[in-house]
Amino acid sequence: MVHRLRVAEVIAETADAHSLVLTVPPALATEFAYLPGQYLTVMVPGTGARCYSLSSSPHTDTDLKITVKRVRDGRGSNWICDHVRAGETLEFLPPAGEFTPGSLDEDLILLAAGSGITPVMGIIKSVLARGHGRLTLIYANRDEHSIIFGRELAALAGDRLTVTHWLDSERGAPDPAVLAALLAEDGGRSAYICGPEPFVAVARDALQRAGVPEELVNVERFEVGQDESMASTLEVEIDGQTRRLPWPAGKRMLDVIIEAGLNPPFSCRQGHCGACTLRLQRGKVDLVNNEILEQEDFDEGYTLACQAIARSDEVAVTYY
Ligand code: FES
Repeated sequence: MVHRLRVAEVIAETADAHSLVLTVPPALATEFAYLPGQYLTVMVPGTGARCYSLSSSPHTDTDLKITVKRVRDGRGSNWICDHVRAGETLEFLPPAGEFTPGSLDEDLILLAAGSGITPVMGIIKSVLARGHGRLTLIYANRDEHSIIFGRELAALAGDRLTVTHWLDSERGAPDPAVLAALLAEDGGRSAYICGPEPFVAVARDALQRAGVPEELVNVERFEVGQDESMASTLEVEIDGQTRRLPWPAGKRMLDVIIEAGLNPPFSCRQGHCGACTLRLQRGKVDLVNNEILEQEDFDEGYTLACQAIARSDEVAVTYY
């Protein structure tokens, strides 16, 4: 259920990343209890729901904090960075997500790129404060100005946390062989990766080379794909009627359908549950995240409205 939370503070972390510190009233404390690494869904006015990872730790922070980075053509992120001020209220769904360690006593590998550090920060603070786990973090960024939480990470680094910054400006794009060499000692650990798709692919490759079994690898992808998606026209058949709707670049199909006043089914809005499944009749879409449909489902034409962005100028879908 959606609740209004007050923004207690807006922190400029870098030139293009802002954190929102959110006050949870006592009456909502249980509903907004969370695990390190989880995310909040924000109802961005005029744009639809967007998910942002919590950079706060339930073990060290009183308030909740989400960190939002501008994305080219990313309407939700840009709206938040441009418009949200301390004292305002926004609508949120309670915390969700499975990017959270099974135990704070386990040794972990953490691989983050850009704002992918956000959930990782919550995990680091929790493990150091409440657990015994040792952590190896590799954090990739374009250059030193893009590093989020640089000072906090430097202060937390020590016996139980090693931090390696990978800066593209100095070393070029992350290289799986070099990353694997940095992880040579850590092969038996669980790993948590958060970043855009190209980084996730390199990180997975590095972990495989370092001998980390696939079942120990956990991945959180964040808002990706906006740059590649295109403005399109969506033809949707629902409840016995067919509507043609403009589909702006970067917007999720489900948001387009909801904003047209239609009543599509959905639940998690995260690509986890499959409640928003529909059938693609024409055109091409990409899914930002998918943890439910298999290749054979795609072969049958099924796709997820909540995760679909347009990849052709005409897309037609039907609800079965
Ligand atoms: Fe759950 Fe889309 S609403 S997968």
